[in-house]
Amino acid sequence: MAEPWWRDAVVYQVYLRSFADADASGEGDLPGVRSRLPYLADLGVDAIWLNPFYPSPMHDSGYDIVDYCGVDARFGTLEDFDILVRDAADLGIRVIIDIVPNHCSSQHPWFREAMGAGPGSEARKRFIFRDAPNNWQSLFGGPAWTRTPDGQWYLHLFDSTQPDFNWRHPDVVALFDQVLRFWLKRGVAAVRIDMANTLFKERDLPDLPSASTAAPYYDQPELRSLYRSWRRILDSYPSDTFPGPRGAVAEIWFSDPDIARLYLTKDGLPQVFNFRLMLVPWAAADLRAVIDEARGLVAESGGSMPWVLGNHDITRMVSRLGIDQALIRRPSAALRRGAVEVDIPRGTRRARAAVLLQLALPGAAYLYQGDELGLPEYLAIPDDRRKDPTFHRTGGAAIGRDGCRVPMPWSGNAPPYGFADGPVPTWLPQPPDWAALTVAAELSETGSMLQLYRAALLLRREHPALGDGEMTWVESSNAELAFTREPGFEFMANLGDSPAPLPAGCRVILASGPLDSGRLPADTAVWLDRAV
Ligand code: GLC
Repeated sequence: MAEPWWRDAVVYQVYLRSFADADASGEGDLPGVRSRLPYLADLGVDAIWLNPFYPSPMHDSGYDIVDYCGVDARFGTLEDFDILVRDAADLGIRVIIDIVPNHCSSQHPWFREAMGAGPGSEARKRFIFRDAPNNWQSLFGGPAWTRTPDGQWYLHLFDSTQPDFNWRHPDVVALFDQVLRFWLKRGVAAVRIDMANTLFKERDLPDLPSASTAAPYYDQPELRSLYRSWRRILDSYPSDTFPGPRGAVAEIWFSDPDIARLYLTKDGLPQVFNFRLMLVPWAAADLRAVIDEARGLVAESGGSMPWVLGNHDITRMVSRLGIDQALIRRPSAALRRGAVEVDIPRGTRRARAAVLLQLALPGAAYLYQGDELGLPEYLAIPDDRRKDPTFHRTGGAAIGRDGCRVPMPWSGNAPPYGFADGPVPTWLPQPPDWAALTVAAELSETGSMLQLYRAALLLRREHPALGDGEMTWVESSNAELAFTREPGFEFMANLGDSPAPLPAGCRVILASGPLDSGRLPADTAVWLDRAV
């Protein structure tokens, strides 16, 4: 039987609000994505994942949802969505959407009803209301409870405008069954499940004894049967346009592989994101360890863990790889204080090597919009233009995620760089110095980041050794990462300080940067053909 498509798909994350603005409103929209489909097809991706486009007051950039089966007017209409799915399919591109089941918007009709209905009411049972809060903190900073005018408190693991659902209530289960079916019928190829590990909370909501203990809102056992039932729903909608089943990828931030094991079950959600490459220092031993851990998890479970190097929640790759790597796990506060030097040229060299690593590893890959241009984190956004609730809820101590969400530069020398037609102010400001990082500029610059991505994606499609499958480490020095894949492929990266010799009898088919008289310079990676 053929492997399901998602096992080696390359998925491009479209951060809708910042991708392309067709109606000159300063925010991206669905017709904007449609107009840029040829760009995505030329880049060579198999699918796009759209961040939430549902009606929302946008307190958390669309992750605060009022209607799970609609499209916010700022992004277009349901018809625009249908047209996008159809046109993408014509170019061989699948569409993946975001499902946000942990919480809704405080403007959602159910929450408004609950607020009006008062303590003890049926309407409040769809959420988590209590007479007194426990000691949980919001993942965005500040307390996880907000007091209502009648004295009760409601739980929100995120912003106070994002009340958590009570997943032990049958209405909540039924709502999301219906939401999944609604979008599957409209032709989505897969769903990304937001915060897939927090839906259930321990029943009596115990205090968290210390910051280092497993929080009682993660990984509760009921998730297993819920995801089994979602898998059955997915499998009951054979795809009409593309061959193969519908997919689902769970957003789970884990550091302990046993946590990933809870989700990588044969009958549960078929994929769990692998964020580990983003969270370890740029060092051969660290990367090898997380790669081996994932290979083990995939082999034992038969599941799939797409590799991720960037997304809308994490400091941009070229900036992340350009700072002191001891800070890699939590760069936010240091970046905010300006307490860390960001070496963009170095980060860019490493990012180029990192993407060749990502695309050579067995399995699927997610690319984040703008990483193919090498966009850095925009650190100089004025405080009064910042939107991320994490910035505001920490009183500005955390820099927040706005810097990786800046509208895409497409062309031209000044904002809005072709993001919108005409000189509209964009919802987040763009830096004044991105003229060399636009799509148009990089398309005409030999060796640009965009050219590297295009070459790598083309080769990945054509080379029989790439995509899903096996890999074998090659013995190398501590500063290098090298592995082979059959037939005839070898990957090598130099993460040390001085040039390293390339293996004999190999031909370079792609390099992340210039070679040094046949040697591999520091922070450089190559794809090699061993068949010569
Ligand atoms: C996920 C999203 C993030 C959002 C949060 C709350 O982590 O990726 O952007 O803020 O969930 O929905």
